[in-house]
Amino acid sequence: MIVLGIETSCDETGVALYDTAAWENGDLAAKGILGQGLHSQIAMHREYGGVVPELASRDHIRRVLPLLDESLAQAKLTLGQIDAVAFTQGPGLAGALLVGSAFAKSLAQGLNLPSIGVHHLEGHLLSPLLGTSAPSFPFIALLVSGGHTQLMLVSKVGHYELLGETLDDAAGEAFDKTAKLLGLDYPGGAAISKLAEKGQVGRFDLPKPMLHSKDLDFSFSGLKTAVLNQVKKWDAGELKSPEQMAQFHADLARSFVDSLVAVLVSKSEKALKQTGCKHLVLAGGVGANQQLRSALNEKAKKGGFEVHYPPLELCTDNGVMIAFAGALRMLADSKGLSKSGAFDIKPR
Ligand code: KG4
Ligand code: ZN
Repeated sequence: MIVLGIETSCDETGVALYDTAAWENGDLAAKGILGQGLHSQIAMHREYGGVVPELASRDHIRRVLPLLDESLAQAKLTLGQIDAVAFTQGPGLAGALLVGSAFAKSLAQGLNLPSIGVHHLEGHLLSPLLGTSAPSFPFIALLVSGGHTQLMLVSKVGHYELLGETLDDAAGEAFDKTAKLLGLDYPGGAAISKLAEKGQVGRFDLPKPMLHSKDLDFSFSGLKTAVLNQVKKWDAGELKSPEQMAQFHADLARSFVDSLVAVLVSKSEKALKQTGCKHLVLAGGVGANQQLRSALNEKAKKGGFEVHYPPLELCTDNGVMIAFAGALRMLADSKGLSKSGAFDIKPR
């Protein structure tokens, strides 16, 4: 079965074709990726300091068809060889989701194929199964993206239990907002991480919110405010050289990343202990963060659990994870399949 996946929930247009034979034969799951096309709108939104929803929708319209052609060419397939169409149903920007949904449903109707609406986060949390060291079920997923921070217990495909989540900002949001405070471009997650590498450890005593709370929830808005307070204090002080300024930013980035990583790691360990799971997967855009990966690897060595990552290029939004999640859903049961033409998106 060949499944087409369409992702348009935010600022990436992703299209991919996945062949379920690899999964069904127990081969490396990534072998099923036949073709993929991805366009990031980051450069377009950068001058506004964030995603502009209307521009995002319009750009998805422009990109989706050429990306489908590109994916088909890579896969050496024609439209007639597709068996089902999966698309991101939500959460995300309503207008952006409508583009993917309208496109997927129209195509499915035209070709008389079933379509399947996929939860964006399900795409993220199953993507580590496409890595070279795939986890076995059950596993804990630490989902850290621009919109979400969650710990999930995944017992099998389609069976997810939310163990904890952020009460305010998502981890990626905290990265992006802090990046702005340090004068970095949107989205600043990767840039902060790079800057932090040049920073001195422990110069600022920033909070590690909810580190010792008994639950598995998170809160990152206080951490961002603590960074803002340091910036204000610095700005109010005497004039410094550009070198001192650069060092201040790097040191502050370091302390910010260290605090955030400490909380994510500690809560993940707690979730593993509570459930008795031996496998942890890291998913979502912040999962590309090297400091977080090193800290988790370090703990895994001592802690008797394994950490699994999606391939780095599949950490941020893409069409492959939607094609793959849709394919696994269809193999597991056919309940989610639809032949309806209604554009039933779920932005929230
Ligand atoms: O999963 P994703 O592509 O989109 C959402 O579903 O939100 O995640 C995007 C988020 C952004 O906040 C971005 O700053 C963050 O992931 N991000 C990073 C890194 N790469 C992307 N955060 C920290 N370190 C990185 N290397
Ligand atoms: Zn995402």
